[in-house]
Amino acid sequence: MFSTAFLDLPPLSTAEGEVALPGSKSISNRVLLLSALCQGTTTVHDLLDSDDTRVMLAALRQLGCAVAQQGSTVTITGLGGRAWPTPAIELFMGNAGTAMRPLTAALAVQGGDFTLKGVQRMHERPIGDLVDALRELGCTIDYLGNEGFPPLRVGQPQLRLDKPIPVRGDVSSQFLTALLMALPLAAQERDITIEVVGELISKPYIEITLKLLARYGIVVQRQGWERFVILAGSRYQSPGSIHVEADASSASYFIALGAIAQGGGVRVHGVGADSIQGDIRFVEAAQAMGAQVRSGPSWLHIDRGAWPLKAITLDCNHIPDAAMTLAVMALYADGPTTLSNIASWRVKETDRIAAMATECRKLGATVEEGPDWIRVHPLPAGQWRAASIHTYDDHRVAMCFSLAAFNPDRVPVRIEDPKCVAKTFPDYFETLFSVAPADAERIPVICIDGPSASGKGTLASQVAARLGYHYLDSGALYRVTAHAALQTGLVLDAAHESQIAALAATLPVRFDGDRVLLANKDVSEAIRSEQGGMNASKVSALPAVRQALVALQHSFRRLPGLVADGRDMGTVIFPDAGLKVFLTASAEQRAERRHKQLISKGISAIFVDLLADLRARDARDTSRSSAPLKAAEDALLLDNSDLGIEDSVQQVLAWWQGKTPF
Ligand code: DC
Repeated sequence: MFSTAFLDLPPLSTAEGEVALPGSKSISNRVLLLSALCQGTTTVHDLLDSDDTRVMLAALRQLGCAVAQQGSTVTITGLGGRAWPTPAIELFMGNAGTAMRPLTAALAVQGGDFTLKGVQRMHERPIGDLVDALRELGCTIDYLGNEGFPPLRVGQPQLRLDKPIPVRGDVSSQFLTALLMALPLAAQERDITIEVVGELISKPYIEITLKLLARYGIVVQRQGWERFVILAGSRYQSPGSIHVEADASSASYFIALGAIAQGGGVRVHGVGADSIQGDIRFVEAAQAMGAQVRSGPSWLHIDRGAWPLKAITLDCNHIPDAAMTLAVMALYADGPTTLSNIASWRVKETDRIAAMATECRKLGATVEEGPDWIRVHPLPAGQWRAASIHTYDDHRVAMCFSLAAFNPDRVPVRIEDPKCVAKTFPDYFETLFSVAPADAERIPVICIDGPSASGKGTLASQVAARLGYHYLDSGALYRVTAHAALQTGLVLDAAHESQIAALAATLPVRFDGDRVLLANKDVSEAIRSEQGGMNASKVSALPAVRQALVALQHSFRRLPGLVADGRDMGTVIFPDAGLKVFLTASAEQRAERRHKQLISKGISAIFVDLLADLRARDARDTSRSSAPLKAAEDALLLDNSDLGIEDSVQQVLAWWQGKTPF
C-alpha cells in the first residue's frame, strides 16, 4: 500500500496480464454470518481481509463458533442446532455496519444476553428502523445510549410470527438483509412474511442476500419487491465450501483498463459475468463504449475494441459505484458521455458528481453537471494537462483517475493521498502496475551518488519512502558480491576477476526492507561492517564485476519510480535520470559521523583508523579506471556537512518537485 502524501503515475500506454481482485465486502460478511448460523462446517475461500470482516470473525468466535483461518481461507463450524452461549456477552462492532445490523437481528431472534457496541461513529449511525421491526416481531432490544442508535442490549424474545413484519426499505437495504438472514432461525413451524414499507432501495444488494440464502438452503418467495416469505421448515444447511466473489466494483477499473490500454488485454480472476453482484452490469456499459469482454466462471477477459471509445448516454442507477469509472473512460470517447440518475453520488464518501467534474476539468476536460447527472466531453490529444488529482478520502476517485495516466499526451498524473484506496482495495496501485508496465525510460529515477559515509543511503531511502518509489542500495550489491566471493574461497583481486564477475552475474540477492538476503540467508550485518565496505571497494574496482551488475541494477527501475544511491548511478547506470544529486562532506566529517554511529551501536572504533580507511576507499573509488567516483556533469551538489537528514531530504524533494509539472 502507498502511504505517501501523493503518488505520481508516469505516462502509461499498455496493459497485459492477469489480476486477482480482493473479495467483495458485502458477500464476505454475509457468508461469514450464514456459515455461523448453519448446521455443519463451511470452508470460505477468498474472504476479504478488511476491518468489517475482522470484526465479524471476532464476534463469531466470541459466540462460540469454531473458526480456523489460513490466509484468505476460513473454516467455520456453525452453531445450527446447538445451544447459544448463556452468559452475558459484550460484542465490539467497531465501525462495521455490515456486521452490526445482521448480527443484531440474528442475536435478537435467537435470544440471549448480548450487548453490541462500536466506535463513536457507529453510535451515530441509525439502527432504529431495524430495532422497530425486530420489536414488532417480539424481540427484546434496549437502547443503552441514544434512542435509535447503538449501543444495544439484546434479551430473550417472545416471538410473534403470525402477522407480516414491516420493515422500511427506503433508508437502508441492510435492515431487510438483516431480517432475511435472521428469520429462517424462527421459521420452523410457519411461513414468515416480511413487508417492505416505502420504495426498496439498493435492490441488487437484496439479490445478493437472496442468492446467498439459497446457497445455504433457504428459499425465500419474493412477491415483487414488497413482500418476502420465508417458508416454514426452512433450515440453514452448510454448502460445504463457498467462494467469495471478487468485488465487482473493483473489477470496473481493470475492465476499463483493458478497454483503454494497448496490449494483450487484461484478465480478471474472481468474478465472472454470472456474478451475483449488481455492479457486474458495468460490463455491459463498458461493452457499449467499445470494450471487448469475454467471460467464464469467475473470470473476465477484456481487450480494447473500438478506439476511440464510443460515447454513451446511460441511466446508471443500477451501477452507482462502478459508473464513476465510466466518467474517466469518457475522456477517451468520440463524443460527450452523459451519466444520469446518479443523485446518490452526491451523498457518498464525498459529493462524487462535484469531485469527478472538478478533477476531470483539472485534466483539461469540459464537464457539465446537474443535480443527478454528469456529462463528460472527450479530451483530445494535445489538450491533456498534468494534474494533481485531489481524492477527497474517496477510494473510488483515486482508482478512477489512475486511468488518466493512459492519456495520449503522455503527461503524468499525480494521485493525492493514495492510501485512501485501502477502504476496498489496499493494493490497488501495485495490482495496476503489475499489468501496466511502462517503458524503462519513462520510469522516473533519482540518483544520489557520493563518497562512503556521506549519508547517501539514509537520504536515498528516505526520499524513496516519501515518494513511494523503489530504492536501490547499489553499494550493497558490491558488498554482497565480495561476501559471496570470499565464501567461495576467492581472493578479491584482478587475478580472480572473471570468477567474481560470474558470481555477480547470477547473484541470488534479495532485499526485504532494510535486510539483505543472499540465497535467503540474512547477510545484512556481515556486509555492513567496515571490513565489508573495504572488500566491496576492492571488487568494485574490477571492470568485469561492474559490468556483471549492470542488468541487476537496471532491473530495479520499476513503477512508480526509483531512488538509487551509489558512486556511478548518475554517470553510468542511469545516465538519463531525471534528477542527479552528488553528496559531499569532508572526509573528517564523514569519519566523525561513522565514528558516532559505531559507538552508539556499541562497536568500538578509533577515529583516526576510520579516517584513514575512508581516505583509502575514497582514493580507490575515485582513481579506479572503471566508473570512478565523480559527480555527473548535470548533478546538483549537496554539501550536507551542516544539514540534518530531514533538511537534506527536503532539499532533494524540492529539487524533484521542481522537475515535475505539478
Ligand atoms: O555505498 P557503500 O559504502 O555501501 O559501497 C561499498 C563500496 O562499493 C564502495 O567502497 C564503492 C563500491 N561501490 C561502487 O563502486 N559503485 C556503486 N555504485 C556503489 C558502491
